[in-house]
Amino acid sequence: MRIDIITVLPELLENFTKESIVGRAQKKGLVEIHVHNLRDYTLDKWRRVDDYPFGGFAGMVMQCEPIDRCISQLKSERHYDEVIFTTPDGEQFSQPMANKLSLCGNIIILCGHYKGIDYRVREHLITKEVSIGDYVLTGGELAAAVMTDAIVRILPGAIGDEQSALSDSFQDNLLAAPVYTRPAEYKDWGRVPDVLLSGHEARIKEWELQQSIERTRRLRPDLLRGTPLE
Ligand code: ADE
Repeated sequence: MRIDIITVLPELLENFTKESIVGRAQKKGLVEIHVHNLRDYTLDKWRRVDDYPFGGFAGMVMQCEPIDRCISQLKSERHYDEVIFTTPDGEQFSQPMANKLSLCGNIIILCGHYKGIDYRVREHLITKEVSIGDYVLTGGELAAAVMTDAIVRILPGAIGDEQSALSDSFQDNLLAAPVYTRPAEYKDWGRVPDVLLSGHEARIKEWELQQSIERTRRLRPDLLRGTPLE
């Protein structure tokens, strides 16, 4: 898989793509992440990529030309399954969306900034608009990082224990069960549930499922609405 991220703040994303599971997934050849500085695609001698909005509104708007030049360049090199724009008025990002995007060959993520981008870009170049939540960030870089992280970690082989990505919260619309590690007793904070020390795989699986259901009912009943577990 290949993810191309277009941004006016490439420094913000450079470390993120090299570290941890995302960095290791790249070294293993599971994903290539390329960060492009939008300013490299403007013809403006001051490297400006934004301008005042028509209509006298406040703020600055990202111009069509640099975005068009960057995306056209990338598209001339390979096919892209999605050209995503990060924006608070987009479709809400979710685990099912991450799962679906992880099956793509190549995607572009365009990070929004300032007051927005010229609407014609959204109409002509963007195939999917995505929000990571109902709040407004100063730019789309953190949203692009959130999406990239969620997509990359579920690529087969990205996480050592493949089972662990599948047992995440949300993978089956249930929150994950609690986990514990050594020591089995710590201070007076109580003991790790006996079943987890029993070595009885079937009973452990059953306990894990019951815990997931109980936590989901208590913390996120909305996830169970319309299901037999409601
Ligand atoms: N840009 C600014 N806020 C955002 C959000 N909530 N999601 C995605 N992109 C954004």
